[in-house]
Amino acid sequence: MKLPFAESYKIKMVESIKRSTREEREEWIKKANYNLFNLKSEQVFIDLLTDSGTGAMSDKQWSAMMLGDESYAGASSYYLFKNTIKKLLGFDYFLPTHQGRAAENVLFSVLVKEGDLIPGNSHFDTTKGHIEFRKASAIDCTIDEAFDTEIDHPFKGNIDLNKLESVLKNNPASKIPFICVTVTCNSSGGQPVSMQNIKDVYNLAQKYGVKILFDSARFAENAYFIKVRESEFKNHSIKEIVKEMFKYANYATMSSKKDGIVNMGGFIAFDNEEIFKKATVFNIMFEGYITYGGMSGRDMNAVAQGLNESTEFDYLESRIKQVEYLGNQLENYGIHFQKPVGGHGIYINANHFLSKVPKEQYIAQTLAIELYIEAGIRGVEIGTLLADRDPVTRKNRFPVIEYLRLAIPRRVYTNNHMDVVAAGLMNVFDRRDKIMTGYKILKEADIMRHFTVELEKI
Ligand SMILES: Cc1ncc(COP(=O)(O)O)c(C=O)c1O
Repeated sequence: MKLPFAESYKIKMVESIKRSTREEREEWIKKANYNLFNLKSEQVFIDLLTDSGTGAMSDKQWSAMMLGDESYAGASSYYLFKNTIKKLLGFDYFLPTHQGRAAENVLFSVLVKEGDLIPGNSHFDTTKGHIEFRKASAIDCTIDEAFDTEIDHPFKGNIDLNKLESVLKNNPASKIPFICVTVTCNSSGGQPVSMQNIKDVYNLAQKYGVKILFDSARFAENAYFIKVRESEFKNHSIKEIVKEMFKYANYATMSSKKDGIVNMGGFIAFDNEEIFKKATVFNIMFEGYITYGGMSGRDMNAVAQGLNESTEFDYLESRIKQVEYLGNQLENYGIHFQKPVGGHGIYINANHFLSKVPKEQYIAQTLAIELYIEAGIRGVEIGTLLADRDPVTRKNRFPVIEYLRLAIPRRVYTNNHMDVVAAGLMNVFDRRDKIMTGYKILKEADIMRHFTVELEKI
């Protein structure tokens, strides 16, 4: 008999989680103004809100924390982190930041100015927020296949070269501080970018004299997909693929809360000393001194170790097979989601699931609330609420697909938990025809409103 697959780790420490009743959850979500961010974590049984900062650290990471050097300047933890970035990604210049959006804030303070254009593959919301905050525009050049969940394309994070070239051709290079390549592309479903596409984007960038930024939160998951889906790389190690990927980037920002497998942390990496030097000024102003930038020494040690672990094939295989395990169950039940599964979660196509709810009533948010009430599972809306209003017209921006994202934390839940998630969704799917109305907004912020929005049931 062929031995089944099992994770390449065992569990040394556990944390209790609480079940609740449907009545309790109905009460709690109402009190939370139908915003799942407002729930207390103890009101959630399985928390798939995000895979960011929610992973389980390894014994080696915890022991590295004990060796953290908390010196204000010149800490050995900083050098360990810096050398790890050099070894894995190849960059000479580097600044730690406390998380991904902080890295964006510092780097964009140097590079982005009013009226600029930043083409890329579906920019993440904080990235877009930091661009629009500076009165510049993010231009989505993702391939069309990414906007049809049922098309089985291996690299739905790819940039459409024609769309990109038309931006590069029709605008002066001085208005395009960089092309933003998000690996993997969170907003389109944790979808990878192929090595071929990375190279093609690089060639176009070279032709038009434009730089490239990798938004690298899940770069290791991207490398896994290159290994298993791009035949040329099947015999390469993940670390070799990672090194090759980053040859084509001038800058990298990273939220280390994802593939750094830590609870907090981030960084910026540069191939250019001049930009690095300019960024140090903003880092000191916003984050902290150059050699800690918002992180404690112990946290830098944990990230350095985490980056080494996340770039191992066995770890990545365990992680992504769990996402596939959940995806297979949903597929067999006829639930539409972004296919093939991405790296860090399942993105349910809420338009297909709740086809009777009007788009003005926030379809994916409605589904997220229904799943919470059904089974105590917290996902997140990647839909109209997250898309914010158009900065000029102030009208809602309706995305092509409204997603309910079920992000799976690293090394945290078992496949039994995935079975509960699948059953919870199937129960909502069975009664989907009775769900005909959604929610209306009572209060919202001007930018990144989904975090704090208050809603009322229609
Ligand atoms: C692709 C991507 N970029 C940037 C960020 C921002 O990182 P952080 O949450 O650490 O600020 C995230 C976070 O989810 C992300 O997924």
